Amino acid sequence: MDVAVFSTKGYDRQFLDEANVRAGTPHTLRYIEARLTAQSAMLARDAPAICAFVNDVLDRPVLQELAGGNTRMIALRSAGYNNVDLNAAAEFGMVVGRVPAYSPVSVAEHTVGLILALSRKIHKAYVRVREGNFALDGLLGFDLKGRTVGIVGTGKIGVAVAGILSGFGCRILAHDPAPPPELAMIGAEPCPLEQLFRESDIISLHCPLTAATYHLIDEAALEQMKKGVMLINTGRGALVDTRALIDGLKFGRVGYLGLDVYEEEGDLFFENHSDRILHDDVFARLLTFPNVLITGHQAFFTVEALSAIASTTMANLTAFEREGRPLHPVGP
Ligand code: NAI
Repeated sequence: MDVAVFSTKGYDRQFLDEANVRAGTPHTLRYIEARLTAQSAMLARDAPAICAFVNDVLDRPVLQELAGGNTRMIALRSAGYNNVDLNAAAEFGMVVGRVPAYSPVSVAEHTVGLILALSRKIHKAYVRVREGNFALDGLLGFDLKGRTVGIVGTGKIGVAVAGILSGFGCRILAHDPAPPPELAMIGAEPCPLEQLFRESDIISLHCPLTAATYHLIDEAALEQMKKGVMLINTGRGALVDTRALIDGLKFGRVGYLGLDVYEEEGDLFFENHSDRILHDDVFARLLTFPNVLITGHQAFFTVEALSAIASTTMANLTAFEREGRPLHPVGP
């Protein structure tokens, strides 16, 4: 089957090609470097399926253009599907497949990496030592053992983070409308969001971005938190109101901030902008804080995860070709 694969980098090609051969029913993968937008959608013309990533735009106009070009399937190389208008896709007779759990541990370990880097100021120490500065002033850290960590969203990734941090001796508070049974085994305490905000030293976001979770962390939420709280977001950028965060950082309400995702990351992440002027003033302001550590949506980026994403994507495509629906469908 002819598949137009958007937002592809060298690493995507490598893992998708390998999975395509492994699957034994090779699809014709047409690699397109551009992000999927209203302008680039026409490049998929006559491809029955397209393959998209997190910052590809799959809103109504794009889906309409794709449907007009005879595309009937969207294969997402991601777990999250907040970038797809699922109602419009269904209306245009398109099915959508995703990769529900490629390697929750990859994201969980990166999350804990951000927490440790911030709690021990490793990002600052790295730069100092390279400059021959071995002074310790300003690098004072704190132990994770005995600290309370609030996990918002305890699906596959949230549970993995909870498991690792309970091993560090943290008390784990968990908020999820559908808490999984594994939480009890880890010793995590399910609780309302307000209690989690009030009692946590570290708060980590692992819920999907939906209408209900958009700007879940806003000014009102920050006011309920402990002064100096550590906030970690490896979920989706728009779970937090970035401007409220900046105020929180300015006035010390937020003591540490670790981000792998950003509300407006679509124009920045996954590309080298080092020789250009940064036009995003909000992002630029975030970079001025010494207690902020940002990675560019790389929590998923491990050999294990890319391999699993590629295999499941092939399985979704093959199931659609044979049975008219992906292996892991997602609907409105
Ligand atoms: P999942 O579907 O296993 O778990 C999500 C959990 O969030 C579910 O238990 C659900 O009940 C809960 N939830 C839903 N609404 C909620 C709310 N209002 N408050 C609290 N919890 C709520 O998803 P998984 O695999 O754990 O991924 C979580 C999110 O992580 C994805 O939606 C995606 O946005 C993000 N992600 C980020 C990656 C990165 O590289 N930074 C990579 C993969 C996922």
